Amino acid sequence: MQATNSTSSVTIELGDRSYPIHISSGLLSDPETFEALPAGASAMIVTNVTVGPLYGQSLKSTLERHYKTVHVVTLPDGESYKNWETLNLIFDALLGHACDRKTVLFALGGGVIGDMTGYAAASYMRGVPFVQVPTTLLSQVDSSVGGKTGINHPMGKNMIGAFYQPQLVVCDLNTLKTLPARELSAGLAEVIKYGPIADLAFLDWIEANMDRLLARDVESLAYAVKRSCEIKAWVVGQDERESGIRAILNFGHTFGHAIEAGMGYGNWLHGEAVGCGMVMAAQLSHELGLVDGDFVKRLRTLVQRAGLPTIGPRLDANDNAGRYLDLMRVDKKAEGGEIRFVLIDGPAHATVRGASDAVVRRVIDVCTA
Ligand code: NAD
Ligand code: GLY
Repeated sequence: MQATNSTSSVTIELGDRSYPIHISSGLLSDPETFEALPAGASAMIVTNVTVGPLYGQSLKSTLERHYKTVHVVTLPDGESYKNWETLNLIFDALLGHACDRKTVLFALGGGVIGDMTGYAAASYMRGVPFVQVPTTLLSQVDSSVGGKTGINHPMGKNMIGAFYQPQLVVCDLNTLKTLPARELSAGLAEVIKYGPIADLAFLDWIEANMDRLLARDVESLAYAVKRSCEIKAWVVGQDERESGIRAILNFGHTFGHAIEAGMGYGNWLHGEAVGCGMVMAAQLSHELGLVDGDFVKRLRTLVQRAGLPTIGPRLDANDNAGRYLDLMRVDKKAEGGEIRFVLIDGPAHATVRGASDAVVRRVIDVCTA
C-alpha cells in the first residue's frame, strides 16, 4: 500500500455544527491535522487493546503539541463490549482524572470505539467535544460520520444512544494497512451500500475497482472513502435525525441487525451481516416487483467478490423465518410493530416500506442456509 500525500476533505453541512472529514495518509502524526480544534487543557484518547498499541502513541505525541495533558483509556475489544459496563469505564476515567467540560475526547478505533466514545461525549457533563479518528474502512466510510452514537442492549442493536456530532473526522489511510482482511471486507459492505441507494456510477466504479480495493491500493481506498463520505454528507445534511431520507443508509441493515443479534454480537461482523442483509433486501425488492432478478444477481456477485457472505445463517432450527421476524420487529425503523425495510425501487433509488410476513418469510427461506 503506497501513501497518498494529497488530503481530500468533505464537509458535513449542519449549520453551526458543520465539520470537516479529512482523508489522507499520515494524518495522525501531522500536528496540522488538529490545528483548527479549540485549544483546551486536556484531551482523552479512547481506544482499545488492539488499536491502542498500534496507533495510540503516535496520536498521543501529536496531541501533546495542542493539549497540556493527554490521557488514554484503553477498552476491551469487540462488539460484545459495546455496552453499559464498558461505557462506564470511559466515565470512570474522565472522573478519575477530574476532566472538565472542555476536555476533548478522541475516538481512536473502529465503529465500536467511535459509537461508544461519541455517546460518552454526548453525556459526560451533558456534552463535551469529540473527534472521530476511525481506523477501520467501515468506520471511515460510515460510522464516524453523521453523529449516530450509542451502545447495544441484549434485546436490540444500537438501541441506547444519542445523535451527537463530532468536531472533526480524521481518516488516516495508513491505519488500513494493519486491518485484518475480514475487517476490510466488512467495510466494503458499507461502501457497496452507497451505490444502489444513491449513485450507480459509483456502483460501476466499485465493480471495476474491487480487486484494487481488496489489494489495498491507496488511491482506490482514498476515492472509496471520499465518495462514500460525500454521499453520506449529502444524506445527513438533509435529514440529520432520520425523520426521512437518512433511513436509506440502512439498506441491508434490517436483515443484518437480525443476523447480528440472532447469532450473538461479534459472531458475524456488522459489515458481514449488512452485506448479506443487502442481498436479502434486494431479493425482497425483487419479490415485490421493484427490481428485476438481474439486479439481485449483480449485487450478490459484488458482495461475494468483496469476500462477504451472501447466504444468511439459520437463527432457529424450528421456525427460522419466525425468529428473523421477531428480531426485526425490534428494529428502530419498525412502527407500531410493523417492520419497515429499505428497498431498491429504481436506478440508485431507495424507498422505505413494509411487506407482508408471507413475502418476507419466502425471502428468508430463499436466502438462508
Ligand atoms: P470494530 O470497531 O469492532 O473494529 C473491527 C476490529 O478491527 C476490532 O477488533 C478492532 O479492534 C480492529 N481494528 C480497528 N482498527 C484497526 C486497525 N487499523 N488495524 C488492526 N485492527 C484494527 O468494527 P467496525 O466494523 O469498525 O464497526 C462496527 C460498529 O460500527 C458496529 O457496532 C456498528 O453498529 C457500528 N456502526 C455505526 C454506525 C453509525 O452511524 N454510528 C454506522 C455503521 C456501523
Ligand atoms: N449508518 C446509518 C446512518 O448513519 O444513518
